[in-house]
Amino acid sequence: MPNLLIVANCPSKNTRALHRAVCAGAARDEISGIKTRASEPPDAAADDVLWADGVILGTTENFGYMSGQIKDFLERVYYPCLEKTEGLPAALYVKGGLDGTGAKTSMERIIGGMKWKLVRPTLVLKGDFRADFLPQCEELGALMAAGLEAGIF
Ligand SMILES: Cc1cc2nc3c(=O)[nH]c(=O)nc-3n(C[C@H](O)[C@H](O)[C@H](O)COP(=O)(O)O)c2cc1C
Repeated sequence: MPNLLIVANCPSKNTRALHRAVCAGAARDEISGIKTRASEPPDAAADDVLWADGVILGTTENFGYMSGQIKDFLERVYYPCLEKTEGLPAALYVKGGLDGTGAKTSMERIIGGMKWKLVRPTLVLKGDFRADFLPQCEELGALMAAGLEAGIF
C-alpha cells in the first residue's frame, strides 16, 4: 500500500484549514488504498520522507521565501534522503499574504535539487483568505492520493 506524507506549516487558522483540506482530499472515501501521515514541519523528519511514496508540502510565503519551518525541515532531510528518494512524486502548495512567487520558486528549486518529481503545478493561494481555497487544497490531496493509489506517478 503506497504511503503519502503531508507536511505543512500552519501558523494561522486559515493555514490550518488548508492543511486539513489537503488531508480530507487524501482521505476521500473512494481512495482506500493508501496510508497517510500528516504533520507540521517540526514533527517531521527524514524517516517520514523515506517511508513515503509521495509527498505534499505546504508553506506560507514569509519574507519572499518559503517558511522557516519548511526550510528547516528540508535542511534536515536533504542529505539523509538525497540519494534515496530520487524521483519521489511531490506536490506543493503556497499560501501568500500578497504574492507567493518567492515561496514557490524557492521550494521548487530545492525539490529539483533533490530530484523529486513535481506531479502537479504548484498551487499558489494568495491574498485574503477565500472559501474557494479549501476545495483547491482538497483536490490537491485527492489527486496525489489517487495517483499514488493507481500507481500512475
Ligand atoms: C514574518 C512574515 C513575513 C511574511 N512575508 C510575506 C511575503 O513575503 N509575501 C507574502 O505574500 N506574504 C507574506 N506574509 C504573509 C503570510 O504569507 C500569511 O500570513 C500566511 O499566508 C497566512 O495567511 P492568513 O493570514 O490567511 O492566515 C508574511 C507573514 C509573516 C508573519
